[in-house]
Amino acid sequence: MSKIQRVRGTRDLMPEEKRRFRFAEQRGLEVASRFGFSEMETPMFEFSDVFHRGLGETSDVISKETYTFEDRGGERITLRPEGTAGVARAFVSEGLAQNLPLKLAYCGPMFRYERPQKGRYRQFYQIGVESLGFDSPLADVEVIALANDYLAALGLGADVELEINTLGDSDSRRAYREHLVAYLEGHKDKLSADSKVRLEKNPMRILDSKDEGDRAIVAAAPAMSASLNEASRDFFAKVLKGLDAVGIKYRVNEQLVRGLDYYCHSVFEFTTTKLGAQGTVLGGGRYDGLIELMGGPRTPGVGWAAGIDRLAELMAPEILPADKPLIALIPADDVGENECLKIASELRRSGNRVEIILSGNVGKKMKKANGMNAAWALIVGGSEVESGQIACKDLRSGEQVQVARTGLVAHFVAK
Ligand code: HAM
Repeated sequence: MSKIQRVRGTRDLMPEEKRRFRFAEQRGLEVASRFGFSEMETPMFEFSDVFHRGLGETSDVISKETYTFEDRGGERITLRPEGTAGVARAFVSEGLAQNLPLKLAYCGPMFRYERPQKGRYRQFYQIGVESLGFDSPLADVEVIALANDYLAALGLGADVELEINTLGDSDSRRAYREHLVAYLEGHKDKLSADSKVRLEKNPMRILDSKDEGDRAIVAAAPAMSASLNEASRDFFAKVLKGLDAVGIKYRVNEQLVRGLDYYCHSVFEFTTTKLGAQGTVLGGGRYDGLIELMGGPRTPGVGWAAGIDRLAELMAPEILPADKPLIALIPADDVGENECLKIASELRRSGNRVEIILSGNVGKKMKKANGMNAAWALIVGGSEVESGQIACKDLRSGEQVQVARTGLVAHFVAK
């Protein structure tokens, strides 16, 4: 019989890894709350249409990467590949327009059928923020400042670079699309097979192509900035000026288009060279048309999502808070065993981390306590129960003190 295995591209997060994930998420929510964002959660699956409409039929995510199936009721369902479309759907279906502006944060697993490799998984985790209802470019600056503070709070400030671009408003994009198509038509023969299809369906995506041949053609393509109308140029200038004002360094990258169709104006990514090919740790942008596309009222939005898997990989171990010091209880005999149960429950209820060492003689148990990096060891047997005095050994200093049994909880509260 063949062994049952994990599905390719999924991971078991064992305690050490899970701790890093949890920490990265909690730090993110904490920093987000300083900017006025509150956590919410949307379902892990939605009607397929939510993502198809929102992310665009020709985006890679939709055309190649969704987990889509028919459920037992015959509904077309898609596991969420990202969070923004679900938040926009919630905004519309919950009728949240009266509550604007809204600043929302979320974390959780996302699903994409991508080719798995280090830093790229089929179930991965994101933390994201969405700021809804702000037309002002200062909202873009605010979410980028939040991203910047978050990465700094994970100790990654020096490891990442911010790249930013503007796609302009829909008029500018239409104008650029025409220039780009005219240019690419002239190089059609040399484009990759994928990009030949993109040229028909969504030519902007060719700017994003990873194919070497395409990249050479793209390098000489007309610049997006030349097609921006005045309003779009002005918007972008204000975003950059705001970033300067808060002291955030950036590099304008005119080739940055991002992989999802809902973007307009600002798009940005924080990247690192420390993760090999999968160097984008956080990406986002403005999506003023998305909510309307979902059937809601015109509502501007801007936000980002970060890949927790990648952040957890980058974080230095020292950034994680230390565990509470461990108290090891070592029963010396049968009477001691029951007493240890009582002491353990008292100390745990008062907030301590306690382990009763169960197997071996006292010497072995002491060794085990040392091996677990316990801060204290308490040896408890019949004679301790009788005398009402417990020897508490500080395993880090080697010092030993006698503590009255009745004063144990108070003694360790003070630690
Ligand atoms: P995205 O660029 O598709 O944007 O994903 C954001 C981040 O999720 C990436 O920068 C990366 O760190 C991580 N990520 C994506 N795919 C994978 C994967 N297969 N394995 C591991 N990590 C991955 C969005 O999802 C947009 N919803 C962001 C946004 C929010 N824009 C506006 N609001």
